[in-house]
Amino acid sequence: MRPTVAAVLVRISQPSKNDVCYDPFCGSGTIPDERAHLPARRILASDIDEGAVMVAEVNCRDSVVVFHADARKTPSQSESVDIIISNPPWNKQIAVGDVRALYAEFMAEAARILKPHGRIVLLTDCHEEITAASTENGLRLYERHSLSLHGLHPKVYELRKEISS
Ligand SMILES: C[S@@+](CC[C@H](N)C(=O)[O-])C[C@H]1O[C@@H](n2cnc3c(N)ncnc32)[C@H](O)[C@@H]1O
Repeated sequence: MRPTVAAVLVRISQPSKNDVCYDPFCGSGTIPDERAHLPARRILASDIDEGAVMVAEVNCRDSVVVFHADARKTPSQSESVDIIISNPPWNKQIAVGDVRALYAEFMAEAARILKPHGRIVLLTDCHEEITAASTENGLRLYERHSLSLHGLHPKVYELRKEISS
């Protein structure tokens, strides 16, 4: 991902110095490193691919905590994260098998680790997967922005964790 795209995602996230931010599909670490230009309480970055984790460790400045994890089952405590900013695999970009199952399990994990009213900013073209998984997990999709990237047309999705009454 280009740093300019990462900068757009970070800007959309309305960064605050008190945020615990997490990119659980960090790849080479472009998003968390971009976020680290601005103050934050904590910036976390992980990936399932050990090679990607090693690259992110090199690319990210020291304030980013980089580790190996599956986004469907992270070591983060429940209700510990303010905002997830990420670029999960897209169908066309990286073969991940059952992409619908990946989004469903990731969104369930996101709902667990986010604080009440915590938010998610995701760049993806998996519209149906996002829509289905957000409804199932109490995450409200409240904003969408269209992008044009290298002939592809992904969207930036903004979701918020609703708290049940
Ligand atoms: C689109 S890439 C992210 C690119 C990243 N934003 C960058 O700038 O390099 C998606 C990443 O998700 C990772 N991934 C795929 N399945 C995963 C899973 N279950 N848990 C965590 N990471 C996963 C891949 O290894 C890949 O690095």
